Amino acid sequence: MSEEGVLIGVIGGSGLYQLDNLTIIKTVNPETPWGYPSSPITIAALPSGTKVAFIARHGIGHVIPPSRVPGTANIAALKSIGVTAIVSFSAVGSLREEVSPGSFVLPSQVIDRTKGIRDPSFFTETSVVAHAMFGDPFSNKLIAWLEPRVRKVLEEEGKGRKLFTDKTIICMEGPQFSTRAESIMYRQWGADLINMSVLPESKLAREAEISYALIAMATDYDSWRPQSDAVTAHDVVQTLHDNGSAAKLVLSSILDDLHLTLHKHHLHIQAKGEGEAVAVAEA
Ligand code: ADE
Repeated sequence: MSEEGVLIGVIGGSGLYQLDNLTIIKTVNPETPWGYPSSPITIAALPSGTKVAFIARHGIGHVIPPSRVPGTANIAALKSIGVTAIVSFSAVGSLREEVSPGSFVLPSQVIDRTKGIRDPSFFTETSVVAHAMFGDPFSNKLIAWLEPRVRKVLEEEGKGRKLFTDKTIICMEGPQFSTRAESIMYRQWGADLINMSVLPESKLAREAEISYALIAMATDYDSWRPQSDAVTAHDVVQTLHDNGSAAKLVLSSILDDLHLTLHKHHLHIQAKGEGEAVAVAEA
């Protein structure tokens, strides 16, 4: 089932559960070969008529823990309605002093610390062996497109919220937060941020040949700061709401322009190799 004219998929994480400033046209709940997505997909429109597809990653009412998010179904469902680019939002912990809670980040690299219990690929049960390029895990072109626009919105918001690029995110299994020792080790590895959701989501988007960028929203300093208490869910929730409001501002100001860019220059938003999952052999 292809939803005519829906090119942008938005995946909302903690703090972004719906797009309440857009007009909801309908909800769809496509059954994919990998099951149903986390939540029915909302098809919403801006005043201009630009349509987007929205999935709440953790389901309606935040009921799905990170390890159980049906990433394959979410990405397959967005693909089935015709989405060519995904803007994904996630609450993240900061491993760097300068990335203060409330900061937004467009990371460019990811380190996998999930535990192998999430379905990592569309190619696990197939007779085709495929290896997607993942050296550049996010769409660098989409990030470059987003950066000035997100920066402008955050400046106009006037709350002093910072935007960072060229950062590395660690994706951990959870659901417990890291120990202090782990948090310090991740800093030594060169990681700047930590969350529980960017994998395998971004890998699956790459396999599905969908451009993908993460807008990470810092909520806390994790557990590496000797002078601070280790992160708790309470800390995360405190910053979530405010971050979610800024995310909605970002979306309402970029969606029209992004839709137009995807519509006109669809192929140009992907760099070479970003949309390829090349089958290398038949089993
Ligand atoms: N999401 C938000 N803050 C986090 C943290 N400190 N660790 C893992 N995931 C997070």
